[in-house]
Amino acid sequence: MTLSLSKPAKKQIKIGNIELKGNVYIPPMAGFTDLPYRILCREFDEDVLMSTEMLSSKAMIYSDQYKNIHEPNKMDIPEGESLTGIQLFGHEPEIMSEAARIATDAGARFIDINMGCPVAKIVNGMDGAALMKYPELALNIVKAVKSATNLPVTVKTRLGWDYDNLNARDLALMFQDLGISALTLHGRTRSQKYEGNAKWELIAEAIAGLEIPVFANGDVKTIEDVKNILEITGADGVAIARGTMGKPWFSKQVNHYIATGEMLPEPDAHAKLELSLKHCKLMIEYRGIEAGTREIRKHIVKYVHGLPGSSKVRGKLSQLNSYEEAEEMIFELMDNLKYDDRN
Ligand SMILES: Cc1cc2nc3c(=O)[nH]c(=O)nc-3n(C[C@H](O)[C@H](O)[C@H](O)COP(=O)(O)O)c2cc1C
Repeated sequence: MTLSLSKPAKKQIKIGNIELKGNVYIPPMAGFTDLPYRILCREFDEDVLMSTEMLSSKAMIYSDQYKNIHEPNKMDIPEGESLTGIQLFGHEPEIMSEAARIATDAGARFIDINMGCPVAKIVNGMDGAALMKYPELALNIVKAVKSATNLPVTVKTRLGWDYDNLNARDLALMFQDLGISALTLHGRTRSQKYEGNAKWELIAEAIAGLEIPVFANGDVKTIEDVKNILEITGADGVAIARGTMGKPWFSKQVNHYIATGEMLPEPDAHAKLELSLKHCKLMIEYRGIEAGTREIRKHIVKYVHGLPGSSKVRGKLSQLNSYEEAEEMIFELMDNLKYDDRN
């Protein structure tokens, strides 16, 4: 299908030695971008850049969770995977550099530093977006991580701590001088958290003239949003987080649109429901029955959103304890679709 929208100019993105064919990044989402999520997104789109959830640099060094290779490990990256990075958070340069070494050995293709997480327990520990308030420390962290790895080092941040302190541009220029390979910029401040709208015009101001590739981020849900964010910001690529929840095919549609101006069809309702079961199976295989059935609930809500009968599923989801129960629930929704087709 051809869109009536014109297409933004496609820019070639190179992150250190990684030459991307696409322009889309699925950035870290704690509690979402685990291995099953990334496997499904990769099945649709061989060109999308992805990252693990944010990982605590301290935990990587001190917690058994990262030492026991038999447990699901947040650093899990499939063998042969060449476009997935590991995101680290922390504020101690030495610990961040040690964590970068561990992430490098674990198979990351790039190391991303989290300077954007707004959550109180993270910023109160001086991590995430709190680093925007301490530019010197932020620079020391970038230096420390860079000196610990040969991989490209990237930073993900926000416009500033609040509207009185919009320092993303100053930081980006300094990080660029230190040799980071790409920047992801979310068009909100820390104070906004996830409220209000992402300000794409302010992303444009912050990144004008930068030489490193930039992924503009915030509130991209549709192809129209993709066109607008790229045209308004002048960014090289787009980072889409929530817009890929329950939509592992979305990045492929976006990459295809940026390359050709055409819109690929999205899976039909039946295929979406099948995908939810596939995700469920992967999740249980990966995490075991108890954690797997608990963790899949928030994903299934996204897959079934807007489908006939989906509101009834919400209540049942909280009771979900097995793959068979998920199947029963999803088959019921598939039956609703047949009924819908007949009418
Ligand atoms: C559930 C959730 C978890 C997130 N976890 C992280 C994270 O671990 N690291 C990070 O840098 N950003 C994290 N983010 C922020 C997203 O990467 C992204 O910047 C933000 O959601 C705005 O983009 P969007 O409008 O496309 O979702 C998270 C966002 C959500 C909704």
